[in-house]
Order: sequence, then C-alpha cells, then structure tokens
Amino acid sequence: MENNHVPEFNITSNSPDDTISLGRKIGELAIPGDIFLLSGILGTGKTCLTQGIAYGLGINEYTLSPSFVLVRELYGRLTLYHMDLYRLENIEEIADLGLEDYLYGKGVCAIEWANKGIPLFPNEHISIEIIYRGDCKRQIILTAYGQRYLDLLDKLRRETE
Ligand SMILES: Nc1ncnc2c1ncn2[C@@H]1O[C@H](COP(=O)(O)OP(=O)(O)O)[C@@H](O)[C@H]1O
Ligand SMILES: [Mg+2]
Repeated sequence: MENNHVPEFNITSNSPDDTISLGRKIGELAIPGDIFLLSGILGTGKTCLTQGIAYGLGINEYTLSPSFVLVRELYGRLTLYHMDLYRLENIEEIADLGLEDYLYGKGVCAIEWANKGIPLFPNEHISIEIIYRGDCKRQIILTAYGQRYLDLLDKLRRETE
C-alpha cells in the first residue's frame, strides 16, 4: 500500500531533558520553510521543546519565552523564528503582526500558542500539542498536515522508537 503514512505520533516525555531531546531531533530534521505550531497550557513545555529545536539547528542561545518580544530570531544552520502569541487577545491582533515574511521565508518557525491563530497559518504544518500528565510527565502529540510533514514524522519515528 502506498499511502500508509500515519499522520500522528504520540510520545511521552518524563523530564525536561526528554522534551529537549525530542526537540533536538526535530531541529536536526528541519528544512527551510518548516512550520511547527505548538499548543498546550502554560508551563507544559512549549518553550522547552523550542529550546531543543534550537539546539538541533545548532543554536546555543537560550530560548526564553518571548512574551515581550513577540518574535525572536535565532541564527543557526537555519534561522529559527520563535514566536509566542500568549499575550495577544484576538486573531486580528495576530493578523496585524504581518507574520508572512517569517511563515513563507527560508527559516523555521516555532510558534507557541499557535492555536490562537490557526486560520492565519499555512495549511501544511506540523501541530505539536503538549498535555500535562503530572509533575514531570507530558504527552506530546505531533500531527502532520502535508506530505513534507508526514516524511518528517516518519524520520522522527524511526529515530525515536
Ligand atoms: N517532561 C517535561 N517537559 C517539559 N517541561 C517540563 C517537563 N517536566 C517538567 N517540566 C517543567 O515545566 C516547565 C515548562 O516550562 P515552559 O517550557 O516555559 O512551558 P510553556 O512554554 O509551555 O509555558 C519548566 O519549568 C520545566 O522544567
Ligand atoms: Mg513558553
């Protein structure tokens, strides 16, 4: 069967280090234009996972939650645009930011609280939802939308399982 891709990858993280190492693998596999849409309540590990993505791109800087700066640019093998929509009230405010240059550029976008602006983002992306499962335990659900991201998930699955 040709189309036997599984669009979802469900993984358990038992520590911040687990989450960082998943992020690192994602960062290593990233190609220009990739879009990672992160959701999950406060303190689940969206910034932590983004830190891992940054490491995987060869960036050593710390990825503070960019709550005051809405977009941080971090330079590595590819540029990482790290965004956080937490403080934005509505979709118009997000639309007004003019994120197109980032979304359709040659870098990689990691967007925290992306669930607040889904209609504004390209249909093809990977959605990463982090769910709190107690103390240091998190369930991380990655869902691929589009062939590029199905391929990414296949590779990630091979490296993780
Ligand atoms: N398995 C885990 N994965 C990620 N973070 C974890 C985990 N267990 C505990 N934590 C803690 O949860 C917090 C996550 O913070 P952060 O990444 O800033 O969350 P968010 O960006 O989603 O608000 C950190 O204090 C981190 O140490
Ligand atoms: Mg954060």
